[in-house]
Formats: sequence, structure tokens, C-alpha cells
Amino acid sequence: MHFNLAGFLFISAALAAPFAIGAHHPAKTVNMKPTMALNETTLGHAVVSNHCQLPLYLWSVGENISPQNVVQPGQNYSEVFRHDPKTGGVAIKITTVMDGLYTSAPQTVFAYNLVDNVVWYDLSDVFGDPFMGEFVSLLPSEPAIRWKEGVPPSGSQVRISEAMVDLVLTAC
Ligand SMILES: *[C@@H]1O[C@H](CO)[C@@H](O)[C@H](O)[C@H]1NC(C)=O
Ligand SMILES: *[C@@H]1O[C@H](CO)[C@@H](O)[C@H](O)[C@H]1NC(C)=O
Repeated sequence: MHFNLAGFLFISAALAAPFAIGAHHPAKTVNMKPTMALNETTLGHAVVSNHCQLPLYLWSVGENISPQNVVQPGQNYSEVFRHDPKTGGVAIKITTVMDGLYTSAPQTVFAYNLVDNVVWYDLSDVFGDPFMGEFVSLLPSEPAIRWKEGVPPSGSQVRISEAMVDLVLTAC
């Protein structure tokens, strides 16, 4: 399978413009056509890999909020990239606290937007930093997303990747 590099570079240039995951559909402005039809078999996954000593609690949020997923130490959460019909983007919200989504506990948010054959994604924290003092990475990413102390650096964390490639968030 070929990744459309020209399309990628064109999109990268467009990224200089303001971009909010879920709010806009950047492909509309650059009029990128899909070069192949990706399906459940060929699409990659959003993976959350729990290397911490404690369970993680996670919700996949688009138009609807998934039930709480409990990710035990050493286990993974995984979903095939999807395009939400209403919001476009999907936010995987992670806390170290049971029911944390509903109590505004510190959350790490892995947001992605599947657009044709690429995924735009970023990583951010809200209501505090659930992994403060721990290592957090979201790979592959260029430049690499690695939070050595579990705290996001300032500046944009938005990245782009081929949609057939798994993106793995590793906590601790
Ligand atoms: C998914 O796409 C691949 C590659 O184009 C194709 O070989 C496969 O049959 C497709 N699977 C489904 C379930 O449509
Ligand atoms: C979790 O995901 C990572 C990255 O894909 C993989 O290397 C590891 O084997 C997975 N672990 C489990 C328990 O499935």
C-alpha cells in the first residue's frame, strides 16, 4: 500500500492554519481525495497501554460516551480508528480514578480525527495531570510525544499519521 506523501506534505502545510480536533475537517479546505478505501481490516488502532501499577479508567467519547473501560496493569485498551458521524473527532479520556470522567478528575485526553487515510491526533491534560511524575508517550509521532514527567509541554501537540498505523499511548 502506498501512502500519498504529496498529500501528506500538502496537509502539513495546511496545518500552519489554526486547527482544532473535532471542530474542523481540515481535508475540506485542502480537498484531499482518499487514495484508497480503508476498512476495519486495514485501519489501525488507538491503543492505550497501561504500564502503571494501578488500573486506568477510560472512556471513548464522540457523539456518545462509551461505558467506562477498566484497563488493568499490563493490559491494553484498543479501538479501531473511527470517524464519529457527529463530532468527527474522538477523544479517549483517561483517569486514574474510577468514574473520574464524571467527577472532573485529572484526565489525559488522546484525541484523534480520522480523515480519509490519515489520522490527526494530539495529547493533552485537563483538570490536572493524572500521570504527573510518570512517563507518558504517544508513538509513533513526529516530533515524538514523550512526557518525561507526565506533564504536557507548552505548544501544539497535534500530529498526523497514516490511518493504517497503530498509535500507542503508553502510561508509566
Ligand atoms: C478491506 O480492504 C482490503 C484492502 O483494500 C481488502 O482486501 C479487504 O477485502 C477489505 N475488507 C472488507 C471487509 O471490506
Ligand atoms: C499492548 O500494546 C502494545 C503495543 O501495541 C503491544 O506491544 C503489547 O504486546 C500489548 N499488550 C497486551 C497485553 O496486549
